[in-house]
Amino acid sequence: MEVTDYSYGGIYIVLSIKAEKDIFETILARRSVRSFKKNKIPQGIISSLLEAAVRAPTAVHQEPWGFVIIQDEQTLKTLSDYAKPLFLTGLKQRELDDPEQLLDVFESQNFNIFYDADALILICGKTSSPFYAADCWLAAENLMLVACAMNLGSCVIGSAVEAFNTSDIRNKFGIPNNFTAVAPIALGYPNVESPPTSRKAPLIFTRIASD
Ligand SMILES: Cc1cc2nc3c(=O)[nH]c(=O)nc-3n(C[C@H](O)[C@H](O)[C@H](O)COP(=O)(O)O)c2cc1C
Repeated sequence: MEVTDYSYGGIYIVLSIKAEKDIFETILARRSVRSFKKNKIPQGIISSLLEAAVRAPTAVHQEPWGFVIIQDEQTLKTLSDYAKPLFLTGLKQRELDDPEQLLDVFESQNFNIFYDADALILICGKTSSPFYAADCWLAAENLMLVACAMNLGSCVIGSAVEAFNTSDIRNKFGIPNNFTAVAPIALGYPNVESPPTSRKAPLIFTRIASD
């Protein structure tokens, strides 16, 4: 798939996306990647990912998203060290089945919650907007699918959300008070190929069709 330009409502937009898989192949191929090469993601590709993100459906056309882009190893390492104890405290308060392994991982000093990915894109949502969280997650999926189509790996890092919503980190990364961190996405070139996973068949409660 190659998209070079696009005309929409009189607005002419040039897209720089050059993908190698079609949409269904991409949906099947997308996996959470947790081991990355050291290669840097070029800025043009980061721009294409953002462009894909903002094409998501958006309730009452509010486009209630804002982004933080971090492409700096030390910043991500510091953020990971800050996020781990916060996430651990929350984990311990939940009644999870079999939490020991997860607790061990998060207690390990060497564990980087971003898996040493080259980049992190955080999608924030404007909280006054109806369905802002849904809009942000749709944008996140657009972004991850386009990343996959460009042979980049991605992983949602839910364990970073609490850290991003502390006042210290909000201030450091310029997140306005009327926005909240919703979807942190680690990105980089995968170290290994991850085969497609299986999923349960769709659970259909009712099917009504006229023929
Ligand atoms: C809201 C959300 C939060 C997640 N948080 C994390 C996380 O903190 N760390 C992680 O390694 N994976 C995280 N994941 C990835 C899931 O573990 C992963 O999507 C799931 O195991 C299915 O695997 P797949 O994405 O390869 O299909 C998260 C996924 C979602 C949707």
